[in-house]
Amino acid sequence: MKRTTEPELMDNALQAKAYAEADFESAHSALINQFTELFPDLEVTGELLDLGCGPGDISFRFAKLFGQANITGIDGAQAMLELARMRAESESLTHRIEFKETIIPSSTIPKKPYKLIVSNSLLHHLHNPDVLWNTVLQHSNPETVLFIADLCRPQNGEKARQIVAEFAANESNLLREDFYNSLLAAFRPDEIKGQLTKAGLEHLSITQTGHHLFIYGKRAKPF
Ligand SMILES: C[S@@+](CC[C@H](N)C(=O)[O-])C[C@H]1O[C@@H](n2cnc3c(N)ncnc32)[C@H](O)[C@@H]1O
Repeated sequence: MKRTTEPELMDNALQAKAYAEADFESAHSALINQFTELFPDLEVTGELLDLGCGPGDISFRFAKLFGQANITGIDGAQAMLELARMRAESESLTHRIEFKETIIPSSTIPKKPYKLIVSNSLLHHLHNPDVLWNTVLQHSNPETVLFIADLCRPQNGEKARQIVAEFAANESNLLREDFYNSLLAAFRPDEIKGQLTKAGLEHLSITQTGHHLFIYGKRAKPF
């Protein structure tokens, strides 16, 4: 099945609310578990960048994992960032987590020595995926750890419907439709391999768990 793109930004207030209220506990805790399995000894005490942070659940989870880290979450959707900032206020984390509105590719992402760059479910939104890898290159140094997670496009629409039925049975119709469209917009591992090669990041690893993909490694090529 060919890729079908969806709108990049999730800037509709109802869509953002449906996304923020969806139950991502299982998927997002699995993402953190995957990260800690891949990087068991990593302790981030500096700056962390979350690209396409949405309402910030991944940012908050990494803030909890790394109590000494400061998080910068960026997203182009004001509706999402309002929800993220409200949560930062309510969890008294505004001194450690900053949410900034900007659309990738962007020249206004804060320039900091990021020790870790993470991103979940942004890649499939991008009409031109190269902008993610170029952003990663612009904001990393050789030692920066990269951890990008996304959906994997299924073989066909029927399989996509099955995944939605299995993993989002209790969600709103709006969320289920967004999930279906996201599966159709997602990349497959061989396509991501091509993107990484083009960006000079072909040494990064790609691993698949069910309909999720994880792309990870240090920015520097190993010797
Ligand atoms: C599916 S959500 C993922 C949110 C969050 N990372 C999570 O895992 O809960 C994708 C987010 O990427 C944002 N996004 C899409 N294209 C973008 C772009 N070009 N620049 C900045 N943000 C973008 C959307 O607005 C949306 O909030």
